[in-house]
Amino acid sequence: MKQIKTGTNPLKEGKISRRSFLSSIVTVWGAILTLPFIYGIVDYLSPPGKKFTSFRNKLQNKVEVTSIPLSELPENSSKFIKIDDEPVLVIRKDGMNIIAFSAICTHLDCLVGYRKNEKDIICNCHGSTFNLDGMPQEGPAKEPLSKYNLTIEGDKITISNPI
Ligand code: FES
Repeated sequence: MKQIKTGTNPLKEGKISRRSFLSSIVTVWGAILTLPFIYGIVDYLSPPGKKFTSFRNKLQNKVEVTSIPLSELPENSSKFIKIDDEPVLVIRKDGMNIIAFSAICTHLDCLVGYRKNEKDIICNCHGSTFNLDGMPQEGPAKEPLSKYNLTIEGDKITISNPI
């Protein structure tokens, strides 16, 4: 009787046991099935992130403009607007002293807000504070808030994204 050699099969030769082979397939399959859950949890726990639109517009030198009436912004108050899908904090300190910053904290992208009494900007996520020049004062944020361009004509405040 003639024997035909059909090649080597590690399973038949006992180099890899059936149990360890099945175990590694189940492990890989389980890891693949777990990835969407891990992504969902990380996405849920991460603070609201910056949109890529402003970055794209910067690349294209595209200027987005929004206007608000001066009457909507009394002295020592603030207002949130959106430019290019990004929240912007417009603050009227006094008189015609008006400034606009990105309302996204430079630490981990939470929203910042204006504090009337302290006359500063605070992020409630981890307590970073910024002065009215946008510079970080306390807390984990180390980078200044991005400043927006602003012009006042008559009763109209016009804010545009920084290029
Ligand atoms: S996200 Fe603002 S201080 Fe952390």
